[in-house]
Amino acid sequence: MRKARITLDASFVHGDIDPRLSGSFVEHLGRCVYGGIFEPGHPEADQSGFRRDVLDLVRDLGVPIVRYPGGNFVSSYRWEDGVGPIAERPVRLDLSWHSIETNAFGLGEFVEWCRVAGAEPMVAINLGTRGVDAACELLEYANFSKGTKWSDLRVEHRAAEPYDVRVWCLGNELDGRWQIGHKTAEEYGRLAAETARAMRRIDSNLELVACGSSGSWMPTYPDWEATVLDLCYDDVDFLSLHSYFEPNPEDVGSFLASALKMDEFIEAVVGTCDFARARKRSKKVMNLAFDEWNVWYPKERWTEGHETWRVAPHLFEDTYDIADAVVVGSLLNSLLRHADRVRIACVAQLVNVIAPIHTRDGGGAWRETTYYPMRDVAHFAKGQSLVVHLEGPEYDNPGLGSIPVLDVAASSDVESGALTIFVANRSLEDSVDLELDVRGVGELVPVEHSVLADSGPYVAGVAVNTEEQPGRVTPRSVPFEREGVQDSRVVIAPLSWNVIRFVSKLGPR
Ligand code: AHR
Repeated sequence: MRKARITLDASFVHGDIDPRLSGSFVEHLGRCVYGGIFEPGHPEADQSGFRRDVLDLVRDLGVPIVRYPGGNFVSSYRWEDGVGPIAERPVRLDLSWHSIETNAFGLGEFVEWCRVAGAEPMVAINLGTRGVDAACELLEYANFSKGTKWSDLRVEHRAAEPYDVRVWCLGNELDGRWQIGHKTAEEYGRLAAETARAMRRIDSNLELVACGSSGSWMPTYPDWEATVLDLCYDDVDFLSLHSYFEPNPEDVGSFLASALKMDEFIEAVVGTCDFARARKRSKKVMNLAFDEWNVWYPKERWTEGHETWRVAPHLFEDTYDIADAVVVGSLLNSLLRHADRVRIACVAQLVNVIAPIHTRDGGGAWRETTYYPMRDVAHFAKGQSLVVHLEGPEYDNPGLGSIPVLDVAASSDVESGALTIFVANRSLEDSVDLELDVRGVGELVPVEHSVLADSGPYVAGVAVNTEEQPGRVTPRSVPFEREGVQDSRVVIAPLSWNVIRFVSKLGPR
């Protein structure tokens, strides 16, 4: 068996873990809203039309914050269409996804759904076809108490209390030519700064996210970031990052190394933010909102909805196998390794559309394989993210060079005494005998080693969950070899995602 060793010391930390790293994203796209979180008439629907079976899965997933309503959708969205009596709301063309938007679900429903789901709302404004006025009116509607045109309208819409939305995205992917209202970095940077300043006059307690590039593959990256920050550095709190990783059956080794590309992207954007900071002689540190990330299969299936102008077409309903789950786990590790700067992250998306939760219209709801690493990190990555020194085997990839077989992150929570190690094994064939050298936390008691893996050799698309077999891929506990961990070893199965949990005998520190 191949051998590896990790060394960590609870005193050596990347930073505090913001629980919002486990955020998610609900867009008016395909069946994420309609037929996903919202399906009036479904046997599981509550009086608001929210699917209870989906809510149960969302609560179990532990999502702390949800971005809404887009995505590309927001760039031609009129938020006013989605408030007030549902029967009076207009049906519109959604130009982003070539779909019909009924507006039966809007801001009020979203805020209410978040309350029931136990998540904080994070709202994106339209800076594609609209600007400062519409953003301020939306903010006044959402957050101002009463006594003005827009706040009184909210009260009239049976929401006496303000929605108190704290986190706002200033548009979406405006660097992209596909975006309705696409802009140059200069145009966007000025608009973001002006919008942010006006919004802060209405509510001084906001966290504002400016758009970074739609991906590191964009020809304008990273100049977009540098120019945008030059224009709005003082006015915003976060810069966004987006990244989707495409499975490649011809080169699984490269796909499994996606987290290294994510590390590189985050570190380059941190560098660009710090360059902007130095140019401004500013004391303010720009944080990052990785507010769209996931594994996304090639996108041909869009053409189906594209041609037909339907309500809630089946778009991007990816089914994820065990390799996808291992990649998602390692992407979460990458976010944890950068916890000092990435304070918000939203997996795109929550239900049906490139999502960890899948539903059938009128039918059941089930967990994709990728659900499990997301849930593990939401539940167990608490406190501080630890620096982990890894010595272990590597594999060669023709395009990328030497790749570590294991991908590791760890957290230590002073309040509970919990210490958790997250390990992805990228090897398709090899188990790894992993030695754990954990320092600075006193004696540890093992709690659980859970493993998400499949038996037998990897064949793309086979180890998946479906409505018929929702439990085909689920985590299982494996026994620890020894009581203490300081000199302990664990066996990491091939192509697996592992959560190794301990608690300090010292208890809360
Ligand atoms: O998440 C799906 C889409 O991907 C979003 O609408 C857009 O922002 C990104 O290109």
